[in-house]
Amino acid sequence: MKKALITGITGQDGSYLAELLLEKGYEVYGMVRRSSTENFGRIEHIRDKIKFLQADLLDQFSIISAVKEANPDEIYNLAAQSFVPTSWDQPVLTGEFTALGVTRILEAIRHVNRDIKFYQASSSEMFGKVLEVPQKETTPFYPRSPYGVAKVYGHYITVNYRESYNIFGCSGILFNHESPRRGLEFVTRKVTYNAVKIKLNLQDTISLGNLDAKRDWGFAGDYVEAMWLMLQQDKPDNYVIATGETHTVQELVEIAFGYLNLDWKNHVKIDPRFIRPAEVELLIGDSSKARAKLGWKPKVSFENLVKMMIDSDYKLLTGKQKNS
Ligand code: NAP
Ligand code: GDD
Repeated sequence: MKKALITGITGQDGSYLAELLLEKGYEVYGMVRRSSTENFGRIEHIRDKIKFLQADLLDQFSIISAVKEANPDEIYNLAAQSFVPTSWDQPVLTGEFTALGVTRILEAIRHVNRDIKFYQASSSEMFGKVLEVPQKETTPFYPRSPYGVAKVYGHYITVNYRESYNIFGCSGILFNHESPRRGLEFVTRKVTYNAVKIKLNLQDTISLGNLDAKRDWGFAGDYVEAMWLMLQQDKPDNYVIATGETHTVQELVEIAFGYLNLDWKNHVKIDPRFIRPAEVELLIGDSSKARAKLGWKPKVSFENLVKMMIDSDYKLLTGKQKNS
């Protein structure tokens, strides 16, 4: 039985990856940080099957202890301060978690067992003000937020430990991926959750920022499969994971409100508080390398993803299925 340690197991991706690895027969360890109230909502249904280890990305010794205790075959580093706007408010902390945290895990691998395979959750935010369309593994980076800058560090330190110490480290450059388990502040979930509340007359409007930004949005459940596939290859490498389609935030709004038979123009307000100091205007990924080498491809379309999230939020808010 293979063993895997997942950091960020309480997050969106951690929950889907834990499900996938349990299905594959892995013994799953989850690294969690201490909190005054438990934050296991996304993994409640599988918590009895997971072995939890307390550690924090800021604390080197706790990570070494967790790696020693689990002694896993694979480590998936999904933990990070992952919300881009917060990275301008807390740039130093974002650097500590999202950049140096990666080095702390790699150092634990170097000291405990160099045969552990390592997955780093890199991001399309690294492409930022894009220098090529579509973006692929060789596209130069131009990050536009402290978060993006921290992810570039995490990417290169993974490549560096691969080249310096022969550690099997993979960097998955994942484009935006969403699900009913997405945090409420990210734009897809903010739109689906609040559109349902508007439909139910619980509120009248939603405030958003830049409706023209374009993203390549996929389904998180599809993307965790790519993470696992990367660690099953003969050689470690970097891979772009994306759908190859891009949509504006406005299209997202149109689909979500349209599915609820609402006219979005009556309910959406633009609030400058949600405009970013520097924006990533366009993301669209070329995942042909992952499709050819890993045999990976996305299964859920953008429209079905938005509908899946609306259906789930409707059930969450009413306790009932939405009638189509
Ligand atoms: P998420 O829902 O925000 O989850 C982040 C996880 O990191 C949570 O489990 C959180 O724990 C944990 N964490 C944060 N700070 C920590 C610390 N100091 N010590 C230990 N754990 C800590 O993020 P996600 O959407 O699942 O994304 C997973 C990873 O992929 C992140 O690294 C993100 O930056 C990256 N990524 C995401 C996307 C995307 O579109 N979703 C795309 C590219 C890359 P708590 O529950 O305790 O807060
Ligand atoms: N969050 C948010 N809230 N975004 C808004 C809003 C709003 O009210 N209005 C417009 N947007 C626009 C943002 O300006 C951005 O261009 C786009 O919607 C997507 O924003 P987010 O959903 O917050 O995601 P992100 O693209 O900044 O970052 C996500 O994807 C990255 C991969 O590219 C996060 O998951 C990152 O962790 C991930 O690395």
